[in-house]
Amino acid sequence: MLQKPRGTRDFLPDEMDQRREVEGIMRRIARTWGYREVCTPEFEELEIFTIRSGEGIIQEMYVFEDKGGRKLALRPELTAPVLRMYVNEGKTLPKPLRWFYFADCFRYERPQKGRYRQFWQFGIELIGADSALAEAEVILLARDILAASGISFSIHVGHLSLMRSLLDDLDTDDQKKIRMFLDKKDTGGLAMYLSSRGRDDLCTRLTALAGCRDLNEVFAITGDLPDRDRIEELFSILDGSGLEYTLNPGIARGLDYYTGMVFEIFAENLGAENQVLGGGTYRLAHLFGGEETPSCGFAIGFDRVMVARGERMPAPGIVVGVAFTPEGRDWALTVAGTFRNAGIRTELSLSGKSIGNQIAQIARSADFALIIGKRERELQQVTVKNLRTGGQKALSLADAIREVSGSEPR
Ligand code: HAM
Repeated sequence: MLQKPRGTRDFLPDEMDQRREVEGIMRRIARTWGYREVCTPEFEELEIFTIRSGEGIIQEMYVFEDKGGRKLALRPELTAPVLRMYVNEGKTLPKPLRWFYFADCFRYERPQKGRYRQFWQFGIELIGADSALAEAEVILLARDILAASGISFSIHVGHLSLMRSLLDDLDTDDQKKIRMFLDKKDTGGLAMYLSSRGRDDLCTRLTALAGCRDLNEVFAITGDLPDRDRIEELFSILDGSGLEYTLNPGIARGLDYYTGMVFEIFAENLGAENQVLGGGTYRLAHLFGGEETPSCGFAIGFDRVMVARGERMPAPGIVVGVAFTPEGRDWALTVAGTFRNAGIRTELSLSGKSIGNQIAQIARSADFALIIGKRERELQQVTVKNLRTGGQKALSLADAIREVSGSEPR
């Protein structure tokens, strides 16, 4: 038997119903904040990603050459494609731009629970706004979307300037390595690395900084910073908004394009792969041939949200099955069409067996059976059988629809 590729999943209707419901909730909340949906290609020129997305992502990409010899990659994320699109199509639009996306991404990672090779992100990008308020908006929107999705989570907000202030005197390679250890929360690896560079002193300070939860204590370690006012303003907006969050200067983020505020959100009931969201402030447009454009955004790991939520089937709504004799067939088709137009889920019996047999089959999943034979056709009526009570009555089509839609689904 042939199998699906490693790290991918099939979704049966019960799961898709739940995914579509949550996706709909996310879209709805994003729209109420003024964000509008965009869509980019599933694959891009490889360079879009190698330009700035960080070493990690390059090793994890699906890269291929097409018949024209172009180097392409399946998108591992959407921030770079969306900013590429902004430079191509959106430069002249009035800013700030508020865009969101819901799309699949591909990363060649070792699959485990909550980590897949094809996964979905719901993300937003706020393009062309450079302020503490814009950063706060992005964090608050993330909170609203996840809260509406029905999961419990904790928000960690940091700022790259804080760590950077301690790493000023190191070369960029060292800085990158250190950020990688911090991003993976690998304190052992960090200590060993810094020790090998003769910088044990830094390890103590970095660990102290990463553990700080109070802004004044943070500045006591970092000293005064050029963007201190901006950082203080951001946290004061967050405090004033009533947001529950943890200040976490240890957040380093794996992608290389971030420049300032960074944040991550963790779901409370997931295992190792509990990060359901990552985001922050970044600059990318100038790398794609546009002007330097301050931007801020996040992406939610949609599949992880679904795992964190657990199984929760949406209300099914009323289900109706139509049983009919050969003489009733044409009228049955008309009746089914009219029920569907009224928004009622209506399934035609396809077995061609006796009415009794059809009803027995319908009763397995439906709330009502509509029974249609020669008599119903002649009188332009429908016999409605309530499958919970067993009661049945002959009604006009309009009354039958009223009868069915006025009832509660089982
Ligand atoms: P990221 O942290 O690489 O950020 O991914 C965002 C989220 O996608 C993660 O927090 C995680 O929930 C989910 N995710 C990542 N890899 C996997 C995987 N293999 N399987 C399942 N879920 C996964 C970004 O992608 C940035 N583009 C976010 C951003 C938007 N920054 C600014 N704007």
